[in-house]
Amino acid sequence: MLNLQTLFKKIKIDIKKSTTIEELNKIRVQYLGKKGILTAYIKNLKTFSFLEKRQYSILINKKKQEIIDDIQKHSKYLTMLMLEKRIKQEKIDISLPGRRYDNGSFHPITKTIYDIETFFFKLGFESIYGPEIEDEYHNFDALNIPKNHPARNSHDTFWFDTNRLLRTQTSNMQIRIMKEEKPPMRFIFPGKVYRNDYDMTHTPMFHQIEGLIVDRKITFSNLKWMIYNFLYDFFGDKVSIRFRPSYFPFTVPSAEVDIFIKDDFIKPLEILGCGMVHPNVLKNVNINSSIYSACAFGIGVERMAMLRYKITDIRSFFENDIRFLNQFKYN
Ligand code: DAH
Repeated sequence: MLNLQTLFKKIKIDIKKSTTIEELNKIRVQYLGKKGILTAYIKNLKTFSFLEKRQYSILINKKKQEIIDDIQKHSKYLTMLMLEKRIKQEKIDISLPGRRYDNGSFHPITKTIYDIETFFFKLGFESIYGPEIEDEYHNFDALNIPKNHPARNSHDTFWFDTNRLLRTQTSNMQIRIMKEEKPPMRFIFPGKVYRNDYDMTHTPMFHQIEGLIVDRKITFSNLKWMIYNFLYDFFGDKVSIRFRPSYFPFTVPSAEVDIFIKDDFIKPLEILGCGMVHPNVLKNVNINSSIYSACAFGIGVERMAMLRYKITDIRSFFENDIRFLNQFKYN
């Protein structure tokens, strides 16, 4: 009897002391399991007299129930502790600012090209990107710039060999497209061009957008109307436009267009060349110049972007300084 009382006390203490569910389970098996100590006691009762048997079994069963209740209670308590611990561990501090990721954005030159394309799409132009590695014929000869022509000197050309070069102008595309398509046609050709030149207003690689219309009765006034509308669309009406007579071997007559932004500190900049496609060029691509006429223009994309964003050094476009590029994020 005394033994039994100490055993009950010990069980209760063990239960209280257990700190995990696993430990608690072990205790349950140790005392109440099939081969448990308490079970052994109960089995042993049969050797007792009837009266003793009754007295002990009542006591043992009562205590057994108490132990079961204790185990259950403690198990609940341990589960709650575990839960609390987990909640603490997994707590999220919602007062911390979230992680932002930086969105990329278009380079100002790309953006400028897209804007220019958008304008010409409205006039029914199609946009085509051509090869940057070109041959002498498409870059010079077919454009009425034969060998030893002084105009070649103004293009500081990067040659690969005696024939192949990095194109110095997008005008090469005039030849390529007129050889392939039948008039009427209306195209723009954006892309990279290369000249060996480097200072505040020149980089060895820069961008042009060539434009070409071939149709019956195309005149210089068509060209002029289009250029005016394009420039007002791009810069707004605070801009002054000057058509200045000029010379290009592949157009006649030829003009250059300068632009001034009123009340601005930037001096006038030449932004495009244009003209009526030279009859020699049309002849080179087998277009009958007594039926068709053509006008063309070549826009300097960097110049346009410089004027629009008030940039004074062209080189800043290509230095990849993130502080410079970030300024165009939402433009
Ligand atoms: N290709 C010329 C240049 O790079 C620009 C140009 C002038 C293009 C007149 C044209 C044009 O289409 O008609 O300087």
